[in-house]
Amino acid sequence: MQTNQTVKEIKLAPIRNGTVIDHIACGQALNVMKILGVSENNIDSCISIGIHVPSTKESKWKDLIKIEDRELDSATVDKIALIAPDATISIIRDYYVAEKYTVHLDDHVSGLARCSNPNCITNKGEPVAPEFTVVSRHPIQLRCCYCDRILTNVSDNLL
Ligand SMILES: Nc1ncnc2c1ncn2[C@@H]1O[C@H](COP(=O)(O)OP(=O)(O)OP(=O)(O)O)[C@@H](O)[C@H]1O
Ligand SMILES: [Mg+2]
Ligand SMILES: [Zn+2]
Repeated sequence: MQTNQTVKEIKLAPIRNGTVIDHIACGQALNVMKILGVSENNIDSCISIGIHVPSTKESKWKDLIKIEDRELDSATVDKIALIAPDATISIIRDYYVAEKYTVHLDDHVSGLARCSNPNCITNKGEPVAPEFTVVSRHPIQLRCCYCDRILTNVSDNLL
C-alpha cells in the first residue's frame, strides 16, 4: 500500500551508555565495523548501524553507528579518521551526550596502515614502520614516505 507520507528522519534506537559514531562517509560503516573488531565472542551489547541515512551537513548522505557500553581508544579513533575524516564521536552517558568531538586526521600518518607496494622497505621485514603523507582527504589518498606509492584503498590496508 502506498501513502503520501515521507520518512524525514531515520532514528536508531537510543542508547543509555556507549558511543555514537556519526557523519561517517557514506559507504564506510562496515569498514568502521571492521576497525571496531566486534565479533560474536567479544560483545555483549547492542549495535545499530545506519547506512545511507540523510544528512543535514554538506554531504547529502552519511552512515552512522551506535554501539552500547563501549568507549573507543585513541588508536581506534585514529583509524576511523583514516576512512571517515569527518566522523563525530559522541560518548553517551545516561542517554545524554557527555562528550563529543570530531575525529582528527593529521597530515602525516604513522603506523596505522601498510603500504600497498610489496617491494616497499616497510614490507620487507625491516624494522621500518610505514609512514604516509595525506595527499587528499575526499577521497582519502595517502602517499608512502618511502616509495611514493599512493594508497587509495586505505580500509583494506589498515594494520
Ligand atoms: N541517548 C542517545 N542514544 C543514541 N544516540 C544518541 C543519544 N543522544 C544523542 N545521540 C546521537 O549522538 C549524536 C550527537 O548528538 P547531538 O545531540 O550532538 O546531535 P546533533 O545535534 O544532530 O549533532 P550533529 O551536528 O553532529 O549532527 C547524534 O548522532 C545523536 O543522534
Ligand atoms: Mg545530527
Ligand atoms: Zn611504500
